[in-house]
Amino acid sequence: MSPHGSSSPALPLLVLSLLLLSPPGTLAGGDGSPPSRPIVTPISKDGSTSLYTIPVKGGAPLVLDLAGPLVWSPCQPGHRTVPCKSSVCTVANRNHPANCAYTGTGQPGSPDPSCACTAYPYNPASGQCGSGDLTKVPLSANATDGRNPLFPVSFPAYAACAPDGLLASLPAGAAGVAGLSRQPLSLPSQVASRLKVAKQFALCLAGDGQTGAAIFGGGPFELQAAQPMELAEDLRKNALPLLVNPKSGAYYFRLHGIAVNGAQLSVPAGAFDLDRRQGTGGVLFSTVTRFTTLRSDIFSPLINAFEALTRDVPRRKPFPPFDLCFDASGFPSTRVGPAVANIDLMLDGGRNWTLPGASSLVQVGGSTACFAFQNMGFGATVANSPAVIIGTHQMEDNLVLFDLEKGTFGVSGLLLGRSTHCGNFNFAMGSS
Ligand SMILES: *[C@@H]1O[C@H](CO)[C@@H](O)[C@H](O)[C@H]1NC(C)=O
Ligand SMILES: *[C@@H]1O[C@H](CO)[C@@H](O)[C@H](O)[C@H]1NC(C)=O
Repeated sequence: MSPHGSSSPALPLLVLSLLLLSPPGTLAGGDGSPPSRPIVTPISKDGSTSLYTIPVKGGAPLVLDLAGPLVWSPCQPGHRTVPCKSSVCTVANRNHPANCAYTGTGQPGSPDPSCACTAYPYNPASGQCGSGDLTKVPLSANATDGRNPLFPVSFPAYAACAPDGLLASLPAGAAGVAGLSRQPLSLPSQVASRLKVAKQFALCLAGDGQTGAAIFGGGPFELQAAQPMELAEDLRKNALPLLVNPKSGAYYFRLHGIAVNGAQLSVPAGAFDLDRRQGTGGVLFSTVTRFTTLRSDIFSPLINAFEALTRDVPRRKPFPPFDLCFDASGFPSTRVGPAVANIDLMLDGGRNWTLPGASSLVQVGGSTACFAFQNMGFGATVANSPAVIIGTHQMEDNLVLFDLEKGTFGVSGLLLGRSTHCGNFNFAMGSS
């Protein structure tokens, strides 16, 4: 929109005066309801599973799954159902989990007026799927100006009912999963359509013992530091394209190479490519994978390069699942973790996502630090896998922003380098 309105001489006077009279943010709501605001929620890390949860189901936690198409949770008897013939039933069934048996009932499109839509929730931690009614649940969070929570907001969202057993492998007390994918029934998509906010979200996963934050719906994202630091605008300005995998709603992006200490690894041509026909290969973000996992044709040169550059650091015996471990005191410590060669993930436009020591190593036990990447292996079992799965250890203390509308993402780089971290969102109630 032109700020001077010069290209729209016919703009009706009424609309113009509304535009001028309305404080920013109030128009998006449209229908006279309270102003639309993005919402903020704390993110907790579960110590035993290393999964992350947000307390949006009336305070009950849902596990974050970046690749998940649905919100799901066990239901109470007497829950609402959704007619099979409704279009949302078709949408809910568009992403049927692989190898998930159909129940034969509740199929989308059935004209039977008593037919209740069935959906197929998937547990990304156990790999199990289940079936249950599609329903509507109330979700809640706080509206935010990007600095503080402001006031509580509740809204209804479509969710799949799940058998209680589907909660296995999730954190104790988790009530289900919040799918965050690019698909229409994911949490960010539903927040955008329900609250009339931007179809984007920002994730800041905090390390052990800290509370991170997620903002759905756009706007600023501010962390406390010596000077409060707004991080979202810069990420939007420098956003990079996501890649579409027609077989998945996960967040894929182009990786041109990986460099260690400035030297690009030699990997087979096309090693990072996404095969859009098969839906295999490619590089994606995952909130249910702890350590970045690479196909062995990429993992091997990576660990070899890192090993060569740390030859002088005393080794410790392997600490499963890690093969390469060090005496942590062998690295001088810095603001961004142990002083060690940087790993650059080489993105579009010559840009890098640089992983310093805090991202490339993980402390295991008191005095051992291990190389925090895992080998996916090679062969039949990984033939259908991505090339690289970016895990949460590498995302921690980075702000990562996903724009589902524009199909872009941005990543801040390790915030410790700027003397803040993802535990620094101010969850004290603000006023506005
Ligand atoms: C809103 O934020 C306050 C302060 O952090 C918190 O106590 C409350 O539980 C939040 N409400 C919702 C609905 O998330
Ligand atoms: C990105 O990383 C590569 C490899 O380390 C390096 O050669 C290049 O100069 C970096 N680019 C920027 C903009 O820092």
